[in-house]
Amino acid sequence: MKPLRILGIESSCDDTSIALVEGNGENVRILKEASKSQIDIHKEFGGVVPEVAARAHSEMIMPLLKQVYSKKNPPDAIAVTSGPGLATALMVGVETARTLSFATGIPLISVNHIEGHMYSNWINSTPIQFPALCLVVSGGHTELILMKKHLSFKKLGATRDDAAGEAFDKAAKLLGFEYPGGPKISRAATDGNVNAIKFPRPMLSEPGYEFSFAGLKTSALYYVQKHPSLSVADFCASYEQAIVDVLFGKTVRAAKEFKVKSVLLCGGVAANKKLRATLEHEVAELGLQFSAPPIPLCMDNAAMIATAGYFKARAKIYTPWQKISANPQWEL
Ligand code: KG4
Ligand code: ZN
Repeated sequence: MKPLRILGIESSCDDTSIALVEGNGENVRILKEASKSQIDIHKEFGGVVPEVAARAHSEMIMPLLKQVYSKKNPPDAIAVTSGPGLATALMVGVETARTLSFATGIPLISVNHIEGHMYSNWINSTPIQFPALCLVVSGGHTELILMKKHLSFKKLGATRDDAAGEAFDKAAKLLGFEYPGGPKISRAATDGNVNAIKFPRPMLSEPGYEFSFAGLKTSALYYVQKHPSLSVADFCASYEQAIVDVLFGKTVRAAKEFKVKSVLLCGGVAANKKLRATLEHEVAELGLQFSAPPIPLCMDNAAMIATAGYFKARAKIYTPWQKISANPQWEL
């Protein structure tokens, strides 16, 4: 099969991102990318404001597209995130992709944002062995997904309430850290004692692969209310350890039960160094392959969307421009 070049478009939350990747067999590399984060715009509100996000996407998407898209050397396909995400934010990317496909005749591929996060593991990586178990941990998702082959996704379990990223962000808010708080908790945790505060490990000893982080967040709230002069470092270290224990505990159990050959980590929380190091160590103990994308590719980006698009193009899974639409609740 000849190499394919895929343009990716991502606008599901607070990053506007356009990328061009080239896929050849199992290898994918990034040729070009241009992104703009909206963190500075949203941080004064303490979180992402959907209408503000959509407006910022509309302003940024054309200048970014211009940096990556070449009329003289057009891509083989256009891949766009069409869900899940914020409805009005998704629409900006989807309508841009639809118009470009209509105007140029380049085929269109609809990509699920979670599918994109998982495929971030295929960028510049050694070939991934199937069956693979993927832990998806982001601001909106905490899921364990089994991939027996490309584009085959079986959800083993997900969070019943808050996502792991939300658990980080909400505790960070209690401490007065700016949005997004995950990286700030993680930084403060490095000087703390992980055993200082006994936070619960929700659902860890229960069977199955569901998660729940709402209770952990509430216990953090009570702790902060009772201990106004707490040690921020100890609080962050103990809280981070509770989240990491639950995530790696369930992942290792699923890896054994489903006899996978590799374990993949992805999503914004995959940037957490403690989680990466712990999971890498535990997976190596089992003698399995471990993969996590480089830190910049853990955050929302269009290269991962283009990479998922590449594997869909190889399987000839296209969506006509007349049929594509933003699907904020799209479940894989
Ligand atoms: O995947 P992502 O960029 O956006 C979503 O699709 O949600 O994930 C963003 C989430 C935020 O909750 C952020 O706090 C969290 O990832 N995050 C981290 C770290 N870096 C980002 N959480 C813990 N430790 C980090 N180092
Ligand atoms: Zn994401």
